[in-house]
Amino acid sequence: MDDQAKKTALRGISYGLYVVGTKVGDEVNAFGANFVTQTSFAPPLVAIAAKKGTASCDGIRDSGVFSVNVLETGQKDVAFAFFKPVSRVGNKFNDIEFYTATTGSPILKDALSWFECTVVDVVDRGDHTIFVGEVINAGVHRQGDPLTLKETGLFYGG
Ligand SMILES: Cc1cc2nc3c(=O)[nH]c(=O)nc-3n(C[C@H](O)[C@H](O)[C@H](O)COP(=O)(O)O)c2cc1C
Repeated sequence: MDDQAKKTALRGISYGLYVVGTKVGDEVNAFGANFVTQTSFAPPLVAIAAKKGTASCDGIRDSGVFSVNVLETGQKDVAFAFFKPVSRVGNKFNDIEFYTATTGSPILKDALSWFECTVVDVVDRGDHTIFVGEVINAGVHRQGDPLTLKETGLFYGG
């Protein structure tokens, strides 16, 4: 395979950029993620991929729940607050306000909308773990256009 072609082609996939919330024991954590997609209408399923060895990946595996916060275009700074490992920077929420609903996963007050899931399948292939979640609750804080990965100038893929 042509590695450069593989990278370019895979980076041609269009992504949003989300804050995925997790529960780690009694604490909450969250990470910036673009490996997020819907995979079924009925039941409503989404798949996310979490890097193996991160607190978030372990947290989702252990708790069996996660939330996805849909950010608004321009909210790059919110996503940036969640890219660093919690093991290095400690609690990432600082002054970012959140609440919890059904699963205990964090919901950012300033997100456009959110949904939360219970994990119904785990695929352990590759360097990320794929969690298939059934959407069991959702909410909308306000209308707006979602943040895209493209507008941030960042890449996570290829
Ligand atoms: C643009 C961008 C997108 C990312 N997307 C993902 C992703 O989809 N899945 C993932 O596991 N990590 C992704 N990351 C990396 C995580 O945000 C990073 O590993 C984070 O530190 C994990 O947090 P934790 O250590 O507190 O669990 C992405 C990073 C960037 C910069």
